[in-house]
This record gives sequence, structure tokens and C-alpha cells, in this order.
Amino acid sequence: EVVDVTGLHLIPGAIDTHVHFREPGYTHKEDWETGTKAAAMGGVTTVFEMPNTNPPTRSVTELRQKQDCAKKASVDFGIYGLLAEDNIDELQGLIDGGVNAFKCFMGNTFGNLPSPSTGAMLEGFEIVAPSGLRISLHAETASIMAWRQARLDAAGRHAPLDHIAARPEVVAIEAVARAAILSEWTGARVHVLHISSAGELRPLAEAKARGVDITGETCPCYLFLTTEDYDRLGSVIRVNPPVREPKDAKAIWEALQTGVVDMIATDHAPHTPEEKHNDIIWKADCGFPGVETQMPLMLTEVAAGRMSLEHYVKISSANPARSFGMYPMKGRIAVGAHADIAAVDMAREEVIRAENLHSLGKITPFEGRKTVGAPVHTLVRGRFVQRDRMLCPGMVGHGRQVTDIQSMPTPEPKNVDQTLATLLTEGVT
Ligand code: NCD
Ligand code: ZN
Ligand code: ZN
Repeated sequence: EVVDVTGLHLIPGAIDTHVHFREPGYTHKEDWETGTKAAAMGGVTTVFEMPNTNPPTRSVTELRQKQDCAKKASVDFGIYGLLAEDNIDELQGLIDGGVNAFKCFMGNTFGNLPSPSTGAMLEGFEIVAPSGLRISLHAETASIMAWRQARLDAAGRHAPLDHIAARPEVVAIEAVARAAILSEWTGARVHVLHISSAGELRPLAEAKARGVDITGETCPCYLFLTTEDYDRLGSVIRVNPPVREPKDAKAIWEALQTGVVDMIATDHAPHTPEEKHNDIIWKADCGFPGVETQMPLMLTEVAAGRMSLEHYVKISSANPARSFGMYPMKGRIAVGAHADIAAVDMAREEVIRAENLHSLGKITPFEGRKTVGAPVHTLVRGRFVQRDRMLCPGMVGHGRQVTDIQSMPTPEPKNVDQTLATLLTEGVT
């Protein structure tokens, strides 16, 4: 059988190191089967899944439970462990048990996990540092947020904890700076999740300049949506941290080009339409699906000449692979049994429709948006999981935790022409 890839670009599959697949605990929002199918449709070949499930991934017991859920995965995956005030004694067990990274919620968000004090963070960072695993930060300062909320409550007003007006970017700036200092002190590698504001870029750049092992991600919503979209989208746009002003989106876009922001992730955070629609914005659940729409949205920018395809590959695949210890096993073009590839049609026009999403979260702030460029085939370790914009049957369970494939020999680098030839001849099914 021959696959005609004339006119397509083969790029390494996207590596999305920030998704919430909600299982166990909130499977009406998403589960590992639907979440990884959405990834396959989005050209995403590896995901890292977050610990704010129910129960949260706080010890090796919950890690095993999550690995069990992940047996339904169609794409490869990493699993995040939680780093919180009350599980410091579990961190070594999580490391030994095979987590791929840690998430530290410095501010409150979906799942209501308590934010660790600076003391707990310090101790946690010291435990994680020797493992080399990266600690990803929901960089917000609980203390400033709680203080402001208390003040607003006392004044008898609504106190939306993360309403745009009640949450200036300083809560994130302070958190990035503090996390960088703790990283520097302990040697733990850190990563700043969902960068939303221009203000966060300075402490991030400064930390990099003085040699801190720190990386940062932004998400499509912080590039393509702003406060100007609140009226149009209402509670659907509610996300944590919130989208900010056009000047922030512009600064983050530039930082993504210059390398201050290392990568694009999605913070795929599905909820049902019922949970998203609310007349009072801050009462709606925060977040929305993204793993399926990132590549078309970003390729649209590539097609318009605002970013090179080469740079897109860097921020969507190579950089996340390097940051999370998977390069060169992942994050570049490889062949045969190692081929994690998105075949993209740069001319393909689509319209984003929630009803077409493979996620259970059938609601998106990008509804109706026209995109140019889409992944028309996705291969995970040499097998098609998506072909001609359709899921391939029988791929549930094909996904592996990256720790389990790390022992496989690293393939020799080959150029794209060879890859193509090999794809078509080396038993790719
Ligand atoms: C995330 C979720 O729903 O789990 N929501 C969000 O708005 N980003 C939580 C998170 O990433 O902090
Ligand atoms: Zn977060
Ligand atoms: Zn998230």
C-alpha cells in the first residue's frame, strides 16, 4: 500500500507537555481514550498529563492508578506527579515509581489543590533536584490572590478570585521570580506553565541569563485571544490564568520568536458546555480543550508568513523534548519504529467547530475560526494513528509512557527524504 504524501511537509509530531485528561475522577469532561484521540487528530504524538485529577497524582498509589487509565492511550505520554504542601514525603516514591515531571500549583485552580508554602517548595525542590525531573509551575502567588479576595469581600463586592480586574499580573511575576530563586538554590529544573503576561517575561529572561535551568511555555489562547474578546465570548473564554491585553499577546509572540519563551503547549482543559456557560464569568469552570487545535492555529501563522515552519517545529516539538529529557528520542524526525510524525498540508483550509472536536469538551473559544494548514496524517512510533483527517481504528492502547520506551535504542538521524522513503518501505502500517 502506498501513501501519497506529495505536497505535504513531514514534521516531528507535536509534543504537548500540558494537558488535562481528567481521568480518574472527572471522566464526564474527558478520559484517556478521548484525550489521546484528540491529540492524534491534532498532530500531537506525545502529551504530558497533569495531576489535578480525582484523586490527584500525589503518591505512587495514584500514579499506578493513572498508569492504568493511560492504557487506553493512542499517543505516547508522560505523567505528572503533584508537588504540594502535603505530599513532600511522597515525592521520592513518585520519582522511583516513574513520574516524568512534577506540577506545583503556586495558585489555586481547577481541582482546588492547596498551594505549597515557600518552605514546602524548597524542601520539595531539594528532593526532586537529583532526579533531573522538571518541576512545572502554575506560577501565581496564592498569598497576594487571597489577600485581594479578602479585601474585595470585605468591601461587599463580588470577589472573583481570578477575574481579570482582581488579578493583576504581579501575582505571576512574583511567582516566576520566586520559583527561579528556589531553582537556583536547589538545582531543580523548572518550567513556567501558561505564560499569559508580558510581565512574566522579565523574571524568566533574567533567570535564564544567570544560568538557571528554566524553560517557559505559552498557549494559543494567550497569543490569539485578549481582553477584547471578553464581550464576544463571555464565560467561554474563562481560563486560568486569564487572557490579557493585546500588548501582552504581542510581547509573548515576540518572546516565542526570540527564545525567551521556549515552547507552545495547550493547557488542554476540557469541560462540558454546561460547565462553561454562565452569566457570571468567574462561576464558569476555567479552561477549554486545545490539544486538537494548536497545530492548525499555529500553522495558520506559518502560512501567513509570521513564523517559519522550522521555528514552529522547534517550539512545538524539539524544545519540549529537550526540556523534558526526551531528546533525541523524541522531538525530531526519526524513521521506522521511531517515527513520530505529523504530515501537514500547509494549504488545507478548515474551520474550527466544537462539534467536530474529538475531545469530550465540545466547546472552544476558537469556534468559527478559519485555519490554513493542518496535520493530515499522524504517526506514533511508526504507526498511523490518524490518516486523512480520520482516526485509525485499533490504535487505542498503542500509546506508551515515555519512560518505557527510553530504553529503546536511539535512531540514527536521517534526512527527510530518507525518512519518507523509509516510511513507505519499512513496514509502516
Ligand atoms: C486547568 C484545569 O481545568 O485543570 N484550567 C485552566 O484554566 N488552565 C488548571 C490549570 O492548568 O491550572
Ligand atoms: Zn495551571
Ligand atoms: Zn493546566
